[in-house]
Amino acid sequence: MSGLNQKRSIMTMLFALAGIILFIASAVEVAAQDGSNLVNQPVGRDASDSEIAAWDIDIEPDGTGLPAGSGTVAQGRKIYDAKCTNCHGPTASENPGDTGINPNIANRYCCTTTLYDYIHRSMPYYAPQSLEPDEIYSLVALLLNLNDIVPEDFVANATTLRAVTMPQAANYGINPWTSGVIEQPGDPWSHDKP
Ligand code: HEC
Repeated sequence: MSGLNQKRSIMTMLFALAGIILFIASAVEVAAQDGSNLVNQPVGRDASDSEIAAWDIDIEPDGTGLPAGSGTVAQGRKIYDAKCTNCHGPTASENPGDTGINPNIANRYCCTTTLYDYIHRSMPYYAPQSLEPDEIYSLVALLLNLNDIVPEDFVANATTLRAVTMPQAANYGINPWTSGVIEQPGDPWSHDKP
């Protein structure tokens, strides 16, 4: 290669390199512009009222959120035998501490309303949120009766459940820092812990 040709090919390479650098620089600038535009782009959409209602299922300790409906201990027994015995056993106390319900309800729950909330949101285990309000009221009546908290003729509804005081209720307190969340002192999950 002559000296002139060598110079030419070096010049060509330098031009090519400059071209590549310019290309990358402009691509980066475009990406940056897109990014800055994206910051102000609305993402997604507002949830509809029915979507919010489907998630808003909590029953608060004071009974806020309890639906209309009612149920008896006897009705609860029929539903329990059909949908709950395979895991919890006929008296709900076959596997205490595991899938046993009785006597955990008497020992652990602050409020009957929490029991309603728990059954509604999570039971039966294989089909959570499949139970109708009357079924849940009946199951709560049965489980409270099995725990000797209400008599055999108890009828559970939004009013009567609020009126039942659970055996451990006095050991729970309302945490002023967590907008009314009821907690048991010494609870390892307590919000009071640092
Ligand atoms: C397929 C098995 C299964 C079925 C069926 C089932 N459960 Fe459960 N249940 C469980 C398990 C497992 C737990 C423990 C869950 C946990 O600790 O996270 C539990 C926990 C519970 C608790 C809480 C007990 C406590 O110690 O606080 C209640 C109340 C309860 N179930 C009620 C019911 C009722 C009422 C039905 C029938 C409508 C039912 N379950 C059907 C498996 C089942």
